[in-house]
Amino acid sequence: MTNDPLLQPYQLKHLTLKNRLMITSHEPAYPEDGMPKDRYRAYHVERARAGVALTMTAGSASVSRDSPPVFNNILAWKDEVVVWMKQLADECHDHGSAVMIQLTHLGRRTRWDKADWLPVVSPGHEREPSHKAFPKKAEEWDIARIITDYADAAERMQAAGLDGIELQAYGHLMDQFWSPLTNDLDGPYGGSLDNRLRFTFDILSEIRKRCGSDFIVGLRYTADEDMPGGLTRTDGIEISRRLKDSGMVDFLNVIKDHIETDAGLTDVIPVQGMRSAPHLDFAGEVRAATQFPTFHAAKIQDVATARHAIASGKLDMVGMTRAHMADPHIVAKILRGEEDRIRPCVGANYCLDRIYQGGMALCLHNPATGRELEQPHDVPAADEKRRVVIIGAGPAGLEAARVAAARGHEVIVHEAANDPGGQVRLTAQTPRRAEMIQLIQWRFDECARMGATFRFNSFADADTVQADAPDVVIVATGGLPHTEVLTKGDELVVSAWDILSGDAVPGSNVLIYDDAGDYAALQAAEKIAATGARVELMTRDRNISSEVMAMSLTPAMRELQQRDVTFTVTWKLDSVTRDGNHLRATIGSDYGGVTRTREVDQVVVNHGTRPLDDLYFDLLAGSSNLGEVDYDALISGAPQIVSRNSAGLYKLFRIGDAVAARNTHAAIYDALRLVKAI
Ligand SMILES: Cc1cc2nc3c(=O)[nH]c(=O)nc-3n(C[C@H](O)[C@H](O)[C@H](O)COP(=O)(O)O)c2cc1C
Ligand code: SF4
Repeated sequence: MTNDPLLQPYQLKHLTLKNRLMITSHEPAYPEDGMPKDRYRAYHVERARAGVALTMTAGSASVSRDSPPVFNNILAWKDEVVVWMKQLADECHDHGSAVMIQLTHLGRRTRWDKADWLPVVSPGHEREPSHKAFPKKAEEWDIARIITDYADAAERMQAAGLDGIELQAYGHLMDQFWSPLTNDLDGPYGGSLDNRLRFTFDILSEIRKRCGSDFIVGLRYTADEDMPGGLTRTDGIEISRRLKDSGMVDFLNVIKDHIETDAGLTDVIPVQGMRSAPHLDFAGEVRAATQFPTFHAAKIQDVATARHAIASGKLDMVGMTRAHMADPHIVAKILRGEEDRIRPCVGANYCLDRIYQGGMALCLHNPATGRELEQPHDVPAADEKRRVVIIGAGPAGLEAARVAAARGHEVIVHEAANDPGGQVRLTAQTPRRAEMIQLIQWRFDECARMGATFRFNSFADADTVQADAPDVVIVATGGLPHTEVLTKGDELVVSAWDILSGDAVPGSNVLIYDDAGDYAALQAAEKIAATGARVELMTRDRNISSEVMAMSLTPAMRELQQRDVTFTVTWKLDSVTRDGNHLRATIGSDYGGVTRTREVDQVVVNHGTRPLDDLYFDLLAGSSNLGEVDYDALISGAPQIVSRNSAGLYKLFRIGDAVAARNTHAAIYDALRLVKAI
């Protein structure tokens, strides 16, 4: 019997949770027709199989028709949800994991122009800055109908065999009633704290009436809005006590802060570069004040911090949610004594940001997450051992090396630089993005463990590669910054990557023209502004940094606004000319008819990369497939059997930015799905 605090069972009412690790509720936006079907189930079952004690499914599963999902949530108001949730629960139960679901009414945190075009409802007319819908003020019949909806949804989940439910009360309808900032009602549901809590207790009473006292019901709620006029810490502790004392609640899942803006949401769910476990102590205070089962998650990314959360008595159950997206097998690895092999969550928040902007959660550096039906988390061994030569040790090349080595192949990697990492190594030089290096280090360590050979400082040409006598060659040489986008003056500008690498010294009055919308421009701006320089970041788009996405932008904006960086949208850099000691930038607009100039001493252009593909083309003639990829086979997971040159000695592929400028996820996904079938 282990004495690891994380592996001790936890008794919640009649339910024995087999360890202290849980996945908190998070909607990856995988439902089909609002239902958790095969893909959804596979995602949770993968994590249940690996030993997580409790998976809180969904995330904001909707109880009412006037709570339309904003990111493809489960429709808990439909009866057909029972059959899908039952299948999911049954399969997770088979692996010993408990299954619950988060139910909610979003209130004003949604939009009226979704689904049935019903007005959004809230206890006041104040709109939420993020979703921007002006709500209808709830009438008594709205309140009565929604109380019934909650109880109906709870009953459906009980019928599906779930171990329990949690009700969401941070930023949603329930705590819109709680908070003086959003509740404008008079009478029984507005005014005093008693009245503002009445909606919650009416819902709990109705759920208990329908589901009985055994069914597990918890609340995930903000216990301190931490904003002027909002719920204070004292209010939060008082609410926590009342929830406990009601006898209708079985656990408290503590949140701190507020989520009505992107920045607020980012403080609740911190991203890369932000403090680890910032609200853990607060959750511990709630537990100490209530002596009641307490759950919590917020950037507890590593096992040591999770263990501390339990060992120090701050929590009963610790959530490692994104950590389980990055590595579904955390518990299995702890049990096997392989903690150091856990694929680290690097806090990139690609997962969460993407539910809004990309329509579903994907992990930046685990392409099998959410694709459990097609992509392996554990790569199977190959039938036949091959020699795989890879050129480039950036994210694409390293993933190719890792997967090839896991297949049992002999792997040789040539890398021109001293160290692995490619562009990610430069990215990680910005302290706020330092966590990114872990995605390189983890792959490198895995490769080293499996015996892959690395040749650093190796400028491989076609002869070098052919001398290795490869069966398969994978070119992952990445790209080079592309700045030749002007009608005049290309030679006068530097790239964002020149700034990041230190090849270009920051100027003192700098125009950054961002035509890629990715991190490089923001990081260059940050590095230049830190010297005290004046910086203007300009884009031809309607929004800045369109590829960076909402929450990921928060820490960068905080930094750049502090330093008075200005942002200019809908203007486009046309040309640059020298004017004495200055540069004159001429700017126009896609909307036409206007031209302006800027006097600066440095122009930085961020326009993505162009493939570094000479080696690929040099190797083409000697290959059996002439570089061709069978896309159908790639997508279906079948081996690549294209044969177009009988004299060819090896198969040749290229992946990542060596094909076209994309992002880290694309590069790693390219590698996994290609190499898993080699
Ligand atoms: C893709 C995604 C969707 C989420 N959706 C919800 C949600 O609907 N309701 C909720 O309470 N929390 C949601 N969360 C927040 C998580 O439950 C958790 O609080 C957060 O990720 C912080 O924990 P972590 O650092 O362990 O990931 C979501 C998180 C992610 C990554
Ligand atoms: S995308 Fe980033 S934050 Fe999300 S799970 Fe993956 S590594 Fe973690």
